[in-house]
Amino acid sequence: CETGLKVTLHLLYAVSTAVIGSLQFGYNTGVINAPEQKLRTFFHNVSLERYGEPFSSSTNTVVWSFAVAIFSVGGMIGSFSVGAMVNKFGRRKSMLLSNVLALLGGGLMGFSSLAQSFEMVIVGRLVIGVFCGLCTGLTPMYLGEISPTALRGAFGTLHQLGVVIGILVAQIFGLEVLLGSDALWPVLLALTILPAVLQSIMLPFCPESPRYLLIVLNQEEEAQKALVRLRGCEDVSDDIQEMKEEAMKMAMEKKVTIPELFRSRVYRQPIIIAIILQLSQQLSGINAVFYYSTSIFETAGVSQPIYATIGAGVVNTVFTVVSLFLVERAGRRTLHLIGLGGMAICALIMTISLALVEANPSLNYLAIIAVFGFVASFEMGPGPIPWFIVAELFSQGPRPAAMTISGFSNWAANFLVGQGFPKLQELCGAYVFLIFMVLLILFFIFTFLLVPETKGRTFDDIAQGFFKMGQNDFPALTVC
Ligand code: GLC
Repeated sequence: CETGLKVTLHLLYAVSTAVIGSLQFGYNTGVINAPEQKLRTFFHNVSLERYGEPFSSSTNTVVWSFAVAIFSVGGMIGSFSVGAMVNKFGRRKSMLLSNVLALLGGGLMGFSSLAQSFEMVIVGRLVIGVFCGLCTGLTPMYLGEISPTALRGAFGTLHQLGVVIGILVAQIFGLEVLLGSDALWPVLLALTILPAVLQSIMLPFCPESPRYLLIVLNQEEEAQKALVRLRGCEDVSDDIQEMKEEAMKMAMEKKVTIPELFRSRVYRQPIIIAIILQLSQQLSGINAVFYYSTSIFETAGVSQPIYATIGAGVVNTVFTVVSLFLVERAGRRTLHLIGLGGMAICALIMTISLALVEANPSLNYLAIIAVFGFVASFEMGPGPIPWFIVAELFSQGPRPAAMTISGFSNWAANFLVGQGFPKLQELCGAYVFLIFMVLLILFFIFTFLLVPETKGRTFDDIAQGFFKMGQNDFPALTVC
């Protein structure tokens, strides 16, 4: 094809189908926030009916925290299974199969109230977590592999756009007047079934990833057919040529296992970069905001915290769109740096305003602005980029193993922040965001020194950059 920027209907269809998985991850991340009180009341009532006395307040809290935390445990399990799954079933079928988990998890949570079983909420959250863990690997991988090189960053950012829209929808549906009521919270939790059904209907009409067909299965004709559909022109020889070159080099290294990623000099540097970028996303503290924003806004003396939370969701969405338009111009590295820097500054402003708000109540506006700025900066780079850059840093052979490890690191850090933040907040009070500020500065320095720009480069070219470094043992700094 002459133009690498041509977006065909087939490509758009395939991308839209895949990002339903991103939407699912976002929805299930955001959905548990609003109905906290309803669920606690449900646990109370079930225990009263079943054991003749309600759970003590501390047992209730344990059950509640468990229901929240087990989602990320599921996410770790799911993300860890991505590599094995895509190697066995391919990209498209893996997405299709994963939807079974959404039906199961959604069903368990949806019927928990009827069955008077809090265990069903917990198991449902675990299953949905596994499903979301799979989504966070499968969607970016498929998007990265079907996109034309010049649009890979923009399409990769669509994953994050799906996530943030999912969070926003969950925040809005969770309002008491909609589905966040005593009677309807099971519907709120079960709603994840609908997108799963929709994606299952749409997936059979999507092409399998041409890179998987050609490089992994060696089915050139099938790969060519898929490419012709995606690119909208008959002559796809350039793409095929590029994949063949990658395939040839891959033939020398064949399948790459997880331990090999760390042992091989060629992969060690990109896998460390991939892991640290994922950690920079989660240890930036973003989910301290998304999981606990309502209580942060309460501390800041905001009278209607739920609306400030939804405001954060809107800012989150708007800035992901901004990043979508910038990522192919400004580049990944620059945007990631701007995002981390902006977040560090906002974390400082947030700390100052929270520390002084009691003495000076008008500072609550500053606190809201700082939280919004924190979220906006996050979406400039640290939100979208780590998810898709991993697919870019590796060629076809090591990609599944690399996605597995980096996805797992992301979910483990997500778990850590989700569990650790309330305790840290108890210990550090208004100063808690200073911890994130320090981490953000460290991640900024790391990105500045070690992360290469991947914009506009083919997978092979990026992998070759690391390959040369591994061979010559160049100091890492030369990548920048
Ligand atoms: C990213 C993170 C996720 C977070 C979201 C916020 O997708 O992976 O944990 O909740 O951004 O927009």
